[in-house]
Parts: sequence; C-alpha cells; structure tokens
Amino acid sequence: MAPPETQILNFSDEAIEKAAELIRAGQPVAMPTETVYGLAADATNAEAVARIYAAKGRPSFNPLIVHVLDLDTAEHLGEFDDQARALANEHWPGPLTLVVPAREDNGIASLVTAGLETIAIRVPAHPAMRALLKAAGRPLAAPSANASGRISPTRAAHVADSLGGRIPLVIDGGPCEQGIESTIVAATGGPLRLLRRGPIDIDAVEAVGAIEAPGMMASHYAPAKPIRLDAKVAEPGEILLGYGPVAGELYLGDNLVTAAARLFDFMHEADSAPEPRIAVAPIPDEGIGAAINDRLRRAAAPR
Ligand code: TXA
Ligand code: MG
Repeated sequence: MAPPETQILNFSDEAIEKAAELIRAGQPVAMPTETVYGLAADATNAEAVARIYAAKGRPSFNPLIVHVLDLDTAEHLGEFDDQARALANEHWPGPLTLVVPAREDNGIASLVTAGLETIAIRVPAHPAMRALLKAAGRPLAAPSANASGRISPTRAAHVADSLGGRIPLVIDGGPCEQGIESTIVAATGGPLRLLRRGPIDIDAVEAVGAIEAPGMMASHYAPAKPIRLDAKVAEPGEILLGYGPVAGELYLGDNLVTAAARLFDFMHEADSAPEPRIAVAPIPDEGIGAAINDRLRRAAAPR
C-alpha cells in the first residue's frame, strides 16, 4: 500500500488546514469530490501544477479543470455568456464542467490550460473540496488523482495504491457519490458542445450531436513558427529555449518541474519574438520530461 511518506487523513477541520498549508506551499493534495478523487494544486502556481503532472507520471499535457467556490469567482477566470450562466446557475455546485473563453490576466498558470485560450471550470459540491477551496483561498487545478493510464479513483485507497509515495497527503472523504467524472460542456460561442458525458444529462446540448472524446477537443496551443529540437546553440534567426547546461534567451531552468511550469509561457513568448524560428535545448526524456518532449515534438511536427 502507500509508503509512509503519503499521509492519509480522514476529512476534518484539522486535515483541511494541513491540506491548505501544503497547497500554499505549492504541493499537490488528493481530495475527494462528488465525482472522483482529484489531485489538487494551486492553479495560480505553475510549479505546483507541474507537480501534478510529475506525480501522475503523465506522458503528455492535457488541460486541467479549475475548481472554484462559486459562479462569481468563476466569472473572474472566464467569460460566461447567457447559456453558460444558465447552466452554471442550474447545476453548480455539482458535477458539471464548463469550458469558456479564458479572461486575460486571470492569474491562472498557462500550464493549467496548456496554453489554450479557453478554460475549464467547475464548482464542486463535495464538502471537503469546498472546505479546502475556502481554506486555501485560491482556485485549485485538479485532474483525477490516478497515475497515468489507471482508472479514476473513487476511494482514498485507490489513490494510495496508485500515487502512494508520490504525493504528501490524501484526504479520505469516503467513497465518491457519483463515481464518474463530471459532464463537460463547451460554451465558447455558437451552440453548446458536449465534450464529455458524465453524471449530468443535458438535453439541449445532446441535441447538438457528436460528442468529442475527452482531451481530443483541446487542439493544444502550437507556436506558428518552425521549431528545431535538441539544439545546443542558436543558429542565426533562432530564439533559443535553454535548459540545464544550455543557456538560451529564454531559460527553462535546471530541473524538469520548473521547465514544465515555464514551457507554455515561453512558447508564446518565442512565438511573438522578432526571430523567425525557435530552437529548444535537449530535455531529458524522464519523468515529466517525457511530457515536455511529447509537447515539443507535436509543436515541431510539420503542419
Ligand atoms: O469530475 C471531474 O471532472 C474530475 C474531478 C477531480 O473534478 N476531474 C477530471 O479531470 O476528470 P481530468 O483532468 O481527468 O479531465 C479533464 C478533462 C480532460 O479531458 C481535458 O481535455 C478537458 O477536461 N479539458 C480541460 N480544459 C479544457 C479546455 N480548455 N478545452 C477542452 N477540454 C478541456
Ligand atoms: Mg482523468
């Protein structure tokens, strides 16, 4: 089961205070929600978000759902049209995620949205997750709390089996009421689109037709400029993203968590720099480095 470094605490005021301390320190914490257990981290702290990916061992970056306490807070992060607001009023708090255009300067780390111009937001109903949102006082990014390739956890023991030794704390709130992930609806202009089926059936949306497979809908941000990988120095006309011993105009850092945290910001920055091409230093293909390389290979692939 879980190695000793992963603590499992029953949901209580003290446990939530402990979880909030870890969140403020930039650590991920596994939390029960009404759908599945989520691995929560401060959505405004890029390194904290990178630690979610590191713990899950995920070989690629998928945009994450941001959890907040109420619609008012959600409206600071994204733009809600009348349709989105109506759905939110009807189903929040609850197992519905809305994908809406992201507000600029909403403070959310670009790794959360994988550089997209939209943001997925959910107001959870579970008292433990709500207590943590209150205690931490910030939006929480949270994918399902399972290692990559494993099914979503609906009990604290599932989380411990899959992430034990990789995260500091699991809050045990008993089995999840719904047991399947939230319904995801995109309200990004035009008709509503169902991106993922879930506990909430939405007729108006279903009438629209084809369901987008989870994750598939998110055509990730890719720089417009050509990208050269495994570069040790910048050639003329290139802006270099450095890593480790390779210095660059934009330096990703000397560890993979920091590099993941900076990746999407730097791709945007390189894209709007005067140089016509982008070069990127070699990134070790281990741990979260595999996700970084997956992202870079896609960005470098001929389009
Ligand atoms: O019930 C749930 O939603 C759980 C609990 C923890 O809240 N969370 C969850 O997260 O299922 P995750 O990361 O396993 O699934 C999030 C899904 C992914 O399929 C992702 O592609 C999609 O949401 N998503 C996130 N942001 C998106 C965006 N901007 N556009 C389209 N899809 C997005
Ligand atoms: Mg998942």
